[in-house]
Parts: sequence; C-alpha cells; structure tokens
Amino acid sequence: MRRAVLAHPADLDGFRLALRALVAEGVPPAGVLWEVSGEGGLPLADPPAAPPASAPPLAVPRRFAELAEKVVCHSDPARFALLHEAALRLRNSRRLLDDRADPLTDRLLALETSVGRDLHKMRAFVRFREVADPDGPHFIAWFEPEHHILRANCGFFIRRFANMRWTILTPEASAHWDGAALHILPGATRAAAPGDDPLEALWTSYYRAIFNPARLKPAAMAREMPKKYWKNLPEAAAIPSLVAGAAARTSAMLAAGKPADLAGLAAAAATCTRCPLHAAATRTVFGEGPADARLMLVGEQPGDQEDMAGRPFVGPAGQLLDQCLADAGIDRARCYVTNAVKHFRFVATPRRRIHQSPDASHIEACRWWLDQELALVRPALVVMLGASAGRALLGRPVTVGRERGRPLALPDGRTGLLTVHPSYLLRLDSPEAAAAERARFVEDLRAARALAQARAA
Ligand code: URA
Repeated sequence: MRRAVLAHPADLDGFRLALRALVAEGVPPAGVLWEVSGEGGLPLADPPAAPPASAPPLAVPRRFAELAEKVVCHSDPARFALLHEAALRLRNSRRLLDDRADPLTDRLLALETSVGRDLHKMRAFVRFREVADPDGPHFIAWFEPEHHILRANCGFFIRRFANMRWTILTPEASAHWDGAALHILPGATRAAAPGDDPLEALWTSYYRAIFNPARLKPAAMAREMPKKYWKNLPEAAAIPSLVAGAAARTSAMLAAGKPADLAGLAAAAATCTRCPLHAAATRTVFGEGPADARLMLVGEQPGDQEDMAGRPFVGPAGQLLDQCLADAGIDRARCYVTNAVKHFRFVATPRRRIHQSPDASHIEACRWWLDQELALVRPALVVMLGASAGRALLGRPVTVGRERGRPLALPDGRTGLLTVHPSYLLRLDSPEAAAAERARFVEDLRAARALAQARAA
C-alpha cells in the first residue's frame, strides 16, 4: 500500500503533487492510503515530496481543478480517493464531470455543494467579539464548521476585515490576521473564545431589524440558519419572540400596503436591490432612533465601520457628530439618524475599502426609503449633513457653504437645515481651521435645535 501524507486536511497543493506522482506511476486509488499529518496519531510531517521530475503535469479539465478545490475541504475521508479515481477516468472520458447520472460524478458534486454551503454559512454566521488587548482592538470569533473550510475562507475575511486584527477559532485550527499577515494556528475550544460583550446587543438589534415577518418561512429559515449554528449566535435568542410576533406585524404591514413601522421598513430595506450598491456592501444600514423624534439627521451613506456594524454614524465621523451634538445640547438618543444612501459605496484595495461618494442615481434610488422614514417619523426639522444629504432632500445639487445654517423649504413642504458633514471636519489639516469649523458646525446644530423646538411648540 502506498502512503500519501498531506500537511493538513484540506491541503490542495499537497494533494495535487501526490496525485501527479500517483497517476504518473500508475498507482490505482485502491492502492493508496491517504493520511493527514497530525491526525490519527501521525506526527506533524513535512508536506509530501514533489513528484519525480519525470512526472508529467496532470492533463485534467479546468472543471476538475475547480471541483478539487472544494472537495478536498470536505470531511468525508474518501474525498482524496474519489478525486483520484475521477482524475484517472477523465483521461478517457473528458465529459465525466458533466454526467450527473454517473455515481462518481454525482457523489463528487454533492461533496462540492456541501462544502460551498458550509463556506457560505461561515461567512454569514461568524460573529466577532472585541477583546481588550494592549496592542489595540482585537476581534475573536468562535465557529464550528462542518468541513475543513477555515483556510479556504480566510481570503474572504481578510478582504472584508483587512484593517482589523482578528482571530477565528475552530476546533481543528485557528486563523489569525494581524493586519498584515495570516497565521494558521492550532485549533481551540469554545471556552477559549470570549463571551458576551457589547457587540452581542448590536447583532441582536440588527437581527431584529432585518427580520421581516412577511417573509418568514420557518422551514426555509431552518435551512438557511440551521439550529446547529444557533448556539454561537447572540441574535438567535431573539428568534422565538420574533417568530411569535411575526403574524401580527405581517397583518399590520399588509393592511397598510407598506411597512407599518420603522422596524418593518428596516426589514424591507434589508433586501433592497434598488441600485447596484447592495451587491458589494455587507448589508443595508438603515436609520435608527425614536419614531417620534423631532430632529432627523441625514448623512451621506454608511462608511466602512457602519457597514460592518449595521448602524449609522458609529465610526470616526459618528463619534465627532456625537460630541458636536452634545456641545449643541442635543441628545442623539432622541434624534432619528439616517443616511441619504443606505449601502456603503467603496473601492476595494487589498488593505482596505476606500469610501466613494454616491452618485445622483444612488441618491435617487434610495430616496424611496428616506421618504418612508420621513412619513413615519414626521420630524419637526431635517438636518442635512453635507451635499449628498442636501441633494437627496432638496432634489437639486447644493453648495453647502452658500446655504448652510438657515431654514430651507424642502420640496415636500417640510423644513430642513443644511450644514457640513462631520467627516469634512476630520479632513482639515490645520488645528485652527478644524477648531473654527467645528465651532461653526456646533452653531448650525444649535440653530437646528432652536428651530425644531419652535416648530414643535
Ligand atoms: N458618514 C455618513 O454619512 N453616514 C454614516 O453613517 C457614517 C459616515
């Protein structure tokens, strides 16, 4: 019996090398014992030796390479032998992988699908928890995949969270991204992962917001969010009450012809595809705040941190906004805070996602949601933070410097006040200019507060 030892359970490179040698030497699948270093009492070994120089490259269709990439991640111990058999049969039957009636093809495609589903579930259900770390914020997640997919999914998490330090712990191995390089470390236990933290509440409220009762199909939900993942999902605790309240909320929505309340509106917006921005963004970031707020603050669009957190104005611009609101005597918790555009528009670079302002077409497409928010909240005053918000609400291009700080009639009869976007203050280089502009911004917010009070009286 010939032994083929792989460096880890989803070692695609090692598998390719070993397969090339086995095919070149005419070893049949039944004559190979596939082993993984570190498993079954085997010591951690070096990756298998390269095939002899004489071993010709494997002439397999590209589809085989694609299939192998996923199938090696499956937890079925027969996966390597099955791929070996397919590689041999493909020499005489090039269309083998198109023939689902063939039992070997059928089995391999089922393995591929199952791994694809597991990859997707991991992307959807990994929940990072922030831990205190002397070197700065560190986010840790615990996940129990069904297959050996951790390594295959790292690229996704690196692209998505390039500028965070994160670790994903799984029973088999852990992945640590230090902001510059990926390290694969030994597996962990659930006890090694941090417990409850403030992000839990955030996920739970996000999940409540996206839970659309009209779309509730318990069977489909169990398929999409299988119960086995629930134990690691903070938001799962909200599911029973959401399911219980779904029928009542659905009837209210149907009776009104459109979402009956802000939670229903947010749920409907969670699946918005009115413009192309939904495709690259992580999620819709909907407005938040009391339904009877007198002041509505409208920004441009969520940024990188808002896109990850699912809440408006939580990043650097949001923190500055909070301080300036406090200086102006405005309690953010009593305002409704939203954006002209509900999806993050960005250009992805290997290190980070760079903000791009929305186009007029994105603002126009998203105006539908803003109109519904205005109709439900009915604020006494709308504060437009920056030119994109001004364009959305005034329905025309605006020059902030010319129109800021005074009441403006909005086309729908409401009253608005235009001012700068807080990120403008963050971009100013000179400390003097930043201080002066901040003071002007606070003045504008004070004017907004006074106007809202007068209009609500
Ligand atoms: N900038 C915005 O306009 N909105 C946010 O939510 C965050 C940053």
